[in-house]
Amino acid sequence: MLGLVLILTETSTAYGARDFNKVGHTPCGAKCGRKHSAVLTDFGGVGDGKTSNTKAFKAAIDHLSQFASDGGAELIVPPGKWLTGSFNLTSHFTLFLHKDAVILGSQDESEWPLVALLPSYGKGRDAPNARFSSLIYGTNLTDVVITGNNGTIDGQGAPWWTKFRAGQLNATRPYMIEILHSDQIQIFNLTLINSPSWFVHPIYSSNIIVKGLTIVAPVTSPNTDGIDPDSCTNMLIEDCFIVSGDDCVAVKSGWGQYGIKLGKPTKQLVIRRLTCISPDSATIALGSEMSGGIQDVRIEDITALSTQSGIRIKTGRGRGGYVKDIFARRMTLKTMKYAFWMTGNYGSHPDPGFDPKALPVIDRINYRDVVAENVTYSARLDGIAGDTFKGICISNATITLTETPKKLQWNCTNVEGVTSNVTPKACDLLPEKQGKFDCPFPKARLPIESVPLKACSFN
Ligand SMILES: *[C@@H]1O[C@H](CO)[C@@H](O)[C@H](O)[C@H]1NC(C)=O
Ligand SMILES: *[C@@H]1O[C@H](CO)[C@@H](O)[C@H](O)[C@H]1NC(C)=O
Ligand SMILES: *[C@@H]1O[C@H](CO)[C@@H](O)[C@H](O)[C@H]1NC(C)=O
Ligand SMILES: *[C@@H]1O[C@H](CO)[C@@H](O)[C@H](O)[C@H]1NC(C)=O
Ligand SMILES: *[C@@H]1O[C@H](CO)[C@@H](O)[C@H](O)[C@H]1NC(C)=O
Ligand SMILES: *[C@@H]1O[C@H](CO)[C@@H](O)[C@H](O)[C@H]1NC(C)=O
Ligand SMILES: *[C@@H]1O[C@H](CO)[C@@H](O)[C@H](O)[C@H]1NC(C)=O
Ligand SMILES: *[C@@H]1O[C@H](CO)[C@@H](O)[C@H](O)[C@H]1NC(C)=O
Repeated sequence: MLGLVLILTETSTAYGARDFNKVGHTPCGAKCGRKHSAVLTDFGGVGDGKTSNTKAFKAAIDHLSQFASDGGAELIVPPGKWLTGSFNLTSHFTLFLHKDAVILGSQDESEWPLVALLPSYGKGRDAPNARFSSLIYGTNLTDVVITGNNGTIDGQGAPWWTKFRAGQLNATRPYMIEILHSDQIQIFNLTLINSPSWFVHPIYSSNIIVKGLTIVAPVTSPNTDGIDPDSCTNMLIEDCFIVSGDDCVAVKSGWGQYGIKLGKPTKQLVIRRLTCISPDSATIALGSEMSGGIQDVRIEDITALSTQSGIRIKTGRGRGGYVKDIFARRMTLKTMKYAFWMTGNYGSHPDPGFDPKALPVIDRINYRDVVAENVTYSARLDGIAGDTFKGICISNATITLTETPKKLQWNCTNVEGVTSNVTPKACDLLPEKQGKFDCPFPKARLPIESVPLKACSFN
């Protein structure tokens, strides 16, 4: 059957896929290197912004899933506005959005099935006992690509934000993209707007590249985190621009006693060339859900504007776990409340069953080559009494202050470490090392940094 082109006429009632193997590009010009290819309209898709395409996405992906072990398949979303509820991905699969394609998240709750609670959270984040599926959901997959020539996914999140604020949700809001228990995931060259809650949430997964995303939500929208690596190993986030109502990137690994029990850390994570705007949240948060541990995170070439803080560690009693071997360099921060922030009394537990004796370990936190302007507080570093945050190293950091800076620039409690070439001068708990000294940054690269993108070509 190689080379056979099966063209369905518009009046065809049977759904099928075109096999474009060796035939070249699909009608809208994309070729993503998979053996099999289909266009959403082959499965009844209507791109008028009003007709639901939930069934069309399901029919298309169910059909294409049969090719997982035969060269894989790509689904092309052509120009148009494609309204849909939640749909599920398959393995060895590329979802490609044309530059003028917009996937619109349905605002009808019946289009969103409930999915299992996350074992490392125990409870739903918005409503304890239930969770809506994400708009694009995948579990137990291998080799999944979500990409486009900067096509758009619009979560149409406003009604969800309203219901959340009014306490009217019976289930935790959907995320935009959630991938669980999967390996080899690439999400790149897309614009994502107005997610109901978090945008990109890979969890219990490995070998992930997130690149070239423009992520935008109103800075007042609730919990619209940009990218949340959660209990993931070997992950790269690069060249992303994020404006949102919550942390631009939030590194996580489960919540309280549930995260401790599952014990799946996030480790071997690279975040680079990120631009962030988030007036009430962090550029990069480590936590607050960090109970499975966070280790070996390399952060570089970060720009943040009008953001509450640079990197923020968020933890507290009952969280357990650890945050260690964190390396950051070359951060440019403009208009910040706190250039450096560590919070050891972050509240919010999944339920009263948490163990207040479960103390987090914070160790070997290294920041260097930081320029911050128009800053209100240089640092607020709150460790936990009896659980000192240690191994903190900050070198070559130049902070200039707002016109009306606070008097206590470095407010430090229960922390231990060193500084070098830092202005304004740090607190006594972070004494200055004599002589030239740079905080460490690993030289060897992580395996994910040499994985090629599974790019599409388009004309
Ligand atoms: C997607 O898969 C999950 C887990 O298997 C399932 O619970 C959910 O209903 C599926 N969603 C759709 C839209 O079929
Ligand atoms: C998915 O993978 C997880 C972890 O390996 C496993 O516990 C779960 O049963 C798998 N689910 C399915 C539907 O295969
Ligand atoms: C993608 O689209 C967004 C929104 O229109 C735009 O801001 C961004 O510059 C585009 N990215 C590229 C690489 O063209
Ligand atoms: C939430 O649950 C309550 C009680 O089970 C029900 O009356 C209400 O209609 C539900 N609301 C939504 C938005 O589903
Ligand atoms: C200090 O950091 C700035 C900003 O990243 C950089 O341009 C400069 O070269 C660094 N200085 C040293 C001595 O490393
Ligand atoms: C400096 O920061 C303040 C908030 O602290 C803000 O109102 C002001 O616009 C900023 N100035 C500049 C030049 O960005
Ligand atoms: C310094 O931090 C402590 C918490 O550790 C806080 O209670 C106090 O108000 C802060 N002081 C100033 C002047 O901001
Ligand atoms: C992604 O977009 C960038 C910027 O437009 C472009 O240079 C690059 O070739 C695209 N990458 C792929 C793999 O499509």
